[in-house]
Amino acid sequence: MVAKKIAVIGAGNMGTALLRGILASGWGEKAKLVASHPKQEKASTLAKELDIKILGDNAAAAKDADIVILAVKPQILGSVLDELTPVLRKDQLLISIAAGFPTSRIESAVGMNVPVIRAMPNVAAIVKASATALCAGKHATTQHVAEARKIFESIGLVVELAEYQLDAVTGLSGTGPMYIFQVIEGLSDAGVRVGLSRDVASALTIQTLMGAAKMAEHLKVHPAVLKDLVTSPGGTAIAALHSLERNQLRATLMDAVEVATARSKELGQAHDAKPTTTAR
Ligand SMILES: NC(=O)c1ccc[n+]([C@@H]2O[C@H](COP(=O)([O-])OP(=O)(O)OC[C@H]3O[C@@H](n4cnc5c(N)ncnc54)[C@H](OP(=O)(O)O)[C@@H]3O)[C@@H](O)[C@H]2O)c1
Repeated sequence: MVAKKIAVIGAGNMGTALLRGILASGWGEKAKLVASHPKQEKASTLAKELDIKILGDNAAAAKDADIVILAVKPQILGSVLDELTPVLRKDQLLISIAAGFPTSRIESAVGMNVPVIRAMPNVAAIVKASATALCAGKHATTQHVAEARKIFESIGLVVELAEYQLDAVTGLSGTGPMYIFQVIEGLSDAGVRVGLSRDVASALTIQTLMGAAKMAEHLKVHPAVLKDLVTSPGGTAIAALHSLERNQLRATLMDAVEVATARSKELGQAHDAKPTTTAR
């Protein structure tokens, strides 16, 4: 992609991960990147580290950009859009990563035929292993989707979906790293429980997780087939599986994804309300 001027509004965890991904991609150019952060001290530390401009003023950051990435929390996106609207033009592309915030809300807040893309990456963007789903708003063309794809491919895998599926994506892969961190902690504790040191238990857990994930990725078979590979008659795996089934591991995961999906929908409806809790 010919380097476009990109502004990242809200250089927090995800905004910074995107900036790093773009910078490492080979097509991103430092001189064409700008970001905003409300805290002066954080802004200058980050500016020094990434060697790009980080401004305290969102509108000033967005003004000359070709692509504006909205990476603030969903609860303040409404007020940030109010700040940006006076400087936005309809030849700019707006990309929002805010959980639950529909493209139609952004389009009507901005009040012109501005192209909007909604994206749901995940925190593994920090290590360039995000899983991102993208959808296009009413005025976004295939060219805009291609530009957004290029940006998010710099931090991992990208899929394109219809917008009605984005809350489900938020519940599954947007929130997903947290499920896996719980699994890592639980298995690592289990290793300590059966007599291993914390370091050994953690290293074995993480490698086992990555090995199992690689098998699922490469062999492309249903996970039940992979489970059958390890469960020999009367062996340890089938004994452990019986315990997981008794304790309803799969139903627990399904419940978690379902409530996170519902919470994403709620955020989409209530983003203008004063936040009572912080939200992903
Ligand atoms: N984290 C995830 O796993 C994840 C995954 C997918 C999507 N998302 C979405 O990504 C967005 C950012 O999440 P995050 O986890 O990166 O949160 P974050 O680390 O809190 O980043 C948001 C950043 O915006 C800054 N900010 C606050 N008020 C601002 C304002 N008025 N103007 C400009 N910047 C402002 C915050 O500064 P302060 O810290 O000083 O308040 C913070 O640095 C959210 O919409 C979230 O739904 C997050």
